[in-house]
Amino acid sequence: MSKLKDKVAIVTGAASGIGLASAQRYAQEGAIVVGVDRNASDAWAALQDATPGSCFHQIDVTDGAAQRAVVADTVRDLGRIDILLTAAGVGDGGPVGMLEEETWDRVININLKGTFLSVKSVLDQMCAQRSGSIITIASVEGLNGTEGGSAYNASKGGVVLLTKNVAIDYGRMGIRCNTICPGFIDTPMLHEVMDAMPDFKEDVVRETKVGRMGKPEEIAGAAYFLACEDSSFVTGHTLVVDGGYTAGHSHGIVELMGLV
Ligand SMILES: NC(=O)c1ccc[n+]([C@@H]2O[C@H](COP(=O)([O-])OP(=O)(O)OC[C@H]3O[C@@H](n4cnc5c(N)ncnc54)[C@H](O)[C@@H]3O)[C@@H](O)[C@H]2O)c1
Repeated sequence: MSKLKDKVAIVTGAASGIGLASAQRYAQEGAIVVGVDRNASDAWAALQDATPGSCFHQIDVTDGAAQRAVVADTVRDLGRIDILLTAAGVGDGGPVGMLEEETWDRVININLKGTFLSVKSVLDQMCAQRSGSIITIASVEGLNGTEGGSAYNASKGGVVLLTKNVAIDYGRMGIRCNTICPGFIDTPMLHEVMDAMPDFKEDVVRETKVGRMGKPEEIAGAAYFLACEDSSFVTGHTLVVDGGYTAGHSHGIVELMGLV
């Protein structure tokens, strides 16, 4: 039995990477999925063919009016909103003294304000239903600092706390709100970094205790858990899905002792 049968899910950042993989997983589990992204996506034609009712809106998440219009269309056409997953995001930053104000504004606007606008746009409908599961995508870089992280880390730290506050304020209305903090996941966002820094992947894999980067489908699995009733008592939670990246440090002792 599909655990998301006939549920209606809005997914932002749905054209690529984590958002696309999550939209595909929700559709596989029986949900009708409304994709949102500023870019179009070839993958959506197949998803819409396989899942009647699913549709795609090409908008920018920093545009509050456009997000409200997507919600209004969804309620008009599908009658409800059960799940919101906010995966639209960009990476950028640098040491603060070298960071252009425009870069700061762009990253905060898309990652943090865009998430705020997405969440705000569904709350009236979810309150009227007295049900809903909101899942935001933050990052392990919203929990700990990283070299040159600045704007990106600040935006993701903001998403972690915004999520907790929504859980506190709306729990009694039947709305759950949780965040996923992915580690390093093999998506187009990271490909840009890896192209610019040849040693980056090797460094990340060394720090990731399972010895590899994550796959978008592995974040989609967590996004499915938080969307379905298996997580009915989970809210305000920060679910780290990072292959052990934040578990702690290793210094080669187990290799020395012959364990690996
Ligand atoms: N890949 C990783 O290692 C990683 C790790 C931690 C967190 N994340 C987060 O996961 C989320 C998804 O990233 P991804 O790795 O799948 O990257 P991605 O680049 O593959 O996907 C991001 C999507 O967001 C869309 N987007 C960006 N700005 C937008 C805007 N203003 N309006 C609408 N859509 C917009 C892009 O068009 C793209 O389709 C992001 O929030 C990212 O910060 C990624």
